[in-house]
Amino acid sequence: MANSQVRLGILGLGTVGQALIALIDEQHGTILERTGIDLIVTKAAVRDVNKPREVDIAAGSLTADGMEVVESEYVDMVVELVGGIEPTKTYVERALELGKPVVTANKELLAAHGAELFTAAADGIETSLLFEAAVAGGIPLMRALEQSLRGEPLQRVMGIVNGTTNYILSQMSDHGASYADALAEADPTADVDGHDAAAKAAIIATVGFGGSVTSSQVAVEGISNITADDIGAARSMGYAIKLLAIVEHVGQPGDLEVAVRVHPAMVPLTHPLASVRDSFNAVFIEGGAVGELMLYGRGAGGRPTGSAVLGDVIEAAVGFVSGRAHARPSVAPAQVRPLADLRSAFYVEVKVTDQPGVLATVAGVFGSNNVSIKSMEQRGSDADARLLFITHEASEGDLAATLTKLAELEDVHDIGIPLRVIGH
Ligand SMILES: NC(=O)c1ccc[n+]([C@@H]2O[C@H](COP(=O)([O-])OP(=O)(O)OC[C@H]3O[C@@H](n4cnc5c(N)ncnc54)[C@H](OP(=O)(O)O)[C@@H]3O)[C@@H](O)[C@H]2O)c1
Repeated sequence: MANSQVRLGILGLGTVGQALIALIDEQHGTILERTGIDLIVTKAAVRDVNKPREVDIAAGSLTADGMEVVESEYVDMVVELVGGIEPTKTYVERALELGKPVVTANKELLAAHGAELFTAAADGIETSLLFEAAVAGGIPLMRALEQSLRGEPLQRVMGIVNGTTNYILSQMSDHGASYADALAEADPTADVDGHDAAAKAAIIATVGFGGSVTSSQVAVEGISNITADDIGAARSMGYAIKLLAIVEHVGQPGDLEVAVRVHPAMVPLTHPLASVRDSFNAVFIEGGAVGELMLYGRGAGGRPTGSAVLGDVIEAAVGFVSGRAHARPSVAPAQVRPLADLRSAFYVEVKVTDQPGVLATVAGVFGSNNVSIKSMEQRGSDADARLLFITHEASEGDLAATLTKLAELEDVHDIGIPLRVIGH
């Protein structure tokens, strides 16, 4: 096999961009031997060309103008590692228009404009647009969904896809840290509001379930209301609290109807997702034929993410030299079922007056609002008396009506934020 040189233009030399260059240096010989592809980095764009870098890159190859990289006659393929929506969208569109394959790790861009970019890659000179690193860093999730599970009637994909929030919840659970302490110890850009996970959920929905979903269509709740007490109570009842991105097929087989949400959930300690600790990520997949499977690993970090980017670069390079693009069909918008129309089991904590009859009254309110109780425990006494309920599956509307009625009872002093229970 004759060797073929493929010249890369890299946009962004931050955490991932620099890790990618280091990996290309380390793996160059192996890649050449196994694929015949001679990868070289000919140009790179950064915001500040004078900033010191950990990798060697010739000063003449660096520019602050991303478009110069994209349009350079010395660049065959563009690797976008800047992040954000603009100017990256303009760069990616221009590269695709020129027929240059694009590899990106940019979740914001794909979650907002994925379907348009898929179409742009398929139009004109069909070319590859690959983004393995965008959802779960080093975990090969996109290929699993898009290729290995192409024939699978996927039912649900649930992921711990934000390492920072999982780290915070693990600190609270394993070391008794308060939310404030765990937050202070974590990266201050922690995506505790759930929006990072929501962008990833939108991409999982679009790639895995066949209809496009944007991040603005994802129902999101973050973890900032979770207390160390919630985590302790959950653990003593046999659950861990995890921030989950959940995409599920709803409606009839063959319909493009999905539910896509991100929220904290109580997961049974026996469920594989409950044992995913610290900043690790994992994605649990349920299919009609394959059953259950889980992918676990590093969802972020320079080298894990760089590894996934390099895998894409090699695939796109092999396609480029053989004139074959990574084909991806255009996707129509999915129908997204609102959270309010879903059913879940719930955990509800109710602070009550500690006297006979109160439990029966409170339980009666659940029943009269169509919410059936699976288990109940009483904790504390006197001023600290609490009833902890786990319900069977109920509609979000019925649960909301239950909470409204409970709040009107004189003997109910406070109601905790309900948590959905997932994974029985
Ligand atoms: N870090 C991770 O663990 C991880 C994991 C998965 C996915 N990703 C994704 O990978 C992408 C890169 O992340 P990162 O962590 O490497 O980011 P980063 O460390 O902030 O690096 C961003 C790079 O882009 C450059 N840049 C910013 N604006 C630019 C512009 N207008 N034109 C040209 N270059 C520009 C910066 O230049 P200067 O260096 O001069 O400031 C920097 O080199 C993002 O989309 C991110 O979501 C990251």
